[in-house]
Amino acid sequence: MKGIILAGGLGSRLDPLTRITNKHLLPIYDKPMIHYPLEALIGAGISDILIVTGGKNAGHFLELLGNGSELGLPHLNYTYQKGEGGIAEALSLARHFVGDERMCVILGDNILERSIAAQVAAYRAQPSGARILLKEVPDPERFGVPVFDDDEKLIDIEEKPARPRSNYAVIGVYFYDSTVFEIIDGLEPSARGELEITDVNNHYLQRGELDYGVIEGWWTDAGTFPSLLRANNLVEQTGANNT
Ligand code: DAU
Repeated sequence: MKGIILAGGLGSRLDPLTRITNKHLLPIYDKPMIHYPLEALIGAGISDILIVTGGKNAGHFLELLGNGSELGLPHLNYTYQKGEGGIAEALSLARHFVGDERMCVILGDNILERSIAAQVAAYRAQPSGARILLKEVPDPERFGVPVFDDDEKLIDIEEKPARPRSNYAVIGVYFYDSTVFEIIDGLEPSARGELEITDVNNHYLQRGELDYGVIEGWWTDAGTFPSLLRANNLVEQTGANNT
């Protein structure tokens, strides 16, 4: 299974911190942010990894990570996203890297307390389609939010709904097969001008090919000042990517 870390975008919600380096290189307690998604993949046994980055400081990733040898990797792959066309657009840049394989995609600003190894195993056991991960949160309106029917069946995902219909967030760890690239080819930009990962997930759902898991342990993004501070505090208190 291939691993893809999406670390593009301009990080404008963290201006002025992101004027002089890439958002994913800002510190989370004792390490740059990008280390956490990298270690999440490596800890789950995924070592063939592509980092999609962008912006004017993309070269900083090479200075920090090089070929990945300090993390125990044989090699590390990079590609560059121009502009900020959305998470699904960033993922489309992984097409040649992935080929016909399956993939685990993780957003570069997502940090988890626990290992994702069990979820990787669950996806390996899944015969086809895609898998998303959910976590109960106090502020679902900031995220993709799953909608369930009366039988607790997942029927829709809404991106940043004003009135969330559940207390869950779709976290930034996604599992796809290679048909994801055909789905992305057919997407139209959303109102915020981006190709949305939520639209990708809804395509799989409509095909009856979207499964989900609910994660244990804390999870946070780190793309706003409150969540960046929260991420630092959580990692200081308990560490991240623990088994
Ligand atoms: O954190 C989980 C949430 O991430 C999900 O619940 C949402 O459904 C999903 O849309 C996303 O929400 P955000 O609006 O918070 O995503 P954001 O624009 O902050 O981007 C998150 C990461 O994705 C960012 O750190 C790098 C990557 N990204 C984003 C964009 C817009 C790219 O690589 N390229 C991009 O163009």
